[in-house]
Amino acid sequence: MTQHRGRPDESTLVLGIETSCDETAAALVMGGNDVVSSVVASQIEIHADFGGVVPEIASRAHLEALNPVVARAIVEAGVDEVRIDAVACTYGPGLIGALLVGVSAAKALSLAWDVPCVAVNHLEAHLYSAFLEDPSLEFPLVVLLVSGGHTMLIEMEGHGRYRMLGQTIDDAAGEAFDKVARFLDLGYPGGPAIDAAALNGDPDAIRFPRALTEDADNLDFSFSGLKTAVMNYVRKHPDVASADVAASFQQAVVDVLVSKARRAAQQVGATGIVLGGGVAANSLLREEMLGACANDGVNGFLPGRSMCTDNAAMIAAAGWHRLASDGPSGLDTGAMPNLKLPLLDR
Ligand code: KG4
Ligand code: ZN
Repeated sequence: MTQHRGRPDESTLVLGIETSCDETAAALVMGGNDVVSSVVASQIEIHADFGGVVPEIASRAHLEALNPVVARAIVEAGVDEVRIDAVACTYGPGLIGALLVGVSAAKALSLAWDVPCVAVNHLEAHLYSAFLEDPSLEFPLVVLLVSGGHTMLIEMEGHGRYRMLGQTIDDAAGEAFDKVARFLDLGYPGGPAIDAAALNGDPDAIRFPRALTEDADNLDFSFSGLKTAVMNYVRKHPDVASADVAASFQQAVVDVLVSKARRAAQQVGATGIVLGGGVAANSLLREEMLGACANDGVNGFLPGRSMCTDNAAMIAAAGWHRLASDGPSGLDTGAMPNLKLPLLDR
């Protein structure tokens, strides 16, 4: 039994568990932002042969990896498990079977250790990854959340207080990276492969479309037409250098992401722009976002690459804040594959 049964404070130690997609992760975070340990076991190699995540295989791999990953996070933190005050786990959105592994494990640990269990929204957790490195971020913030499944511009008015400013109307940015990389035979996952290939290419070689940019106030995104434009171009010009296609495609995606994030920050009078999600690991996006922020006189916060992609430290951080605002989740909490970000009414 521990001393932290009430409101969490700066010494509250939360075990985070993440199993929503293809990373099995566990982390210990103290006080909502001090990462004591963070372990990520990636299933990338397991799914690479299939060119994408196979849900059934992902669930089985989580089942095998989770206990050792949790044990490693505890050992690396150098703490006794009786010191852990709460267990936070992703309960959605994500693959149902994969989520169930983490949710069941978190409930079992919370019962065994007699500590609260807190269910965390994976999208909210991505918003919190920047706070792991800079807890002093001031609201309002604009968060550009760009992952394999989501592309959103969110106004973060305070902890747990979100407004959706814009989102993709078709493919997510990461999905576009993955599909274009697969088409160009650059490997899986596509984002890092395009990022690397683009280093040797000319971003101005091909002018690909920048969708939904005519109306400056439109903060929604569309990447499906861009993906088709890349395919049509390569079919028409089979001898084109893949590096030039990769660099020109990446430039088109980054131009749109940066211009809309800037516009969003202006609209809401944000103190800064925060990046989150796997695509936030992209080199060009990071460079251009920082340049734009410096130019506009707003702060640019880029979590380290390992905190942008899926990890459990962000789950523990968001869990700490949810524990503070809502208290523990009931043991009847289930996996919610289509969970949405909780939004303010306006
Ligand atoms: O957030 P995340 O790890 O998982 C989801 O919740 O989706 O994001 C994974 C996505 C994949 O589409 C991957 O290709 C993309 O992030 N990604 C990148 C880079 N690293 C990962 N996209 C562009 N450039 C990168 N360096
Ligand atoms: Zn994610």
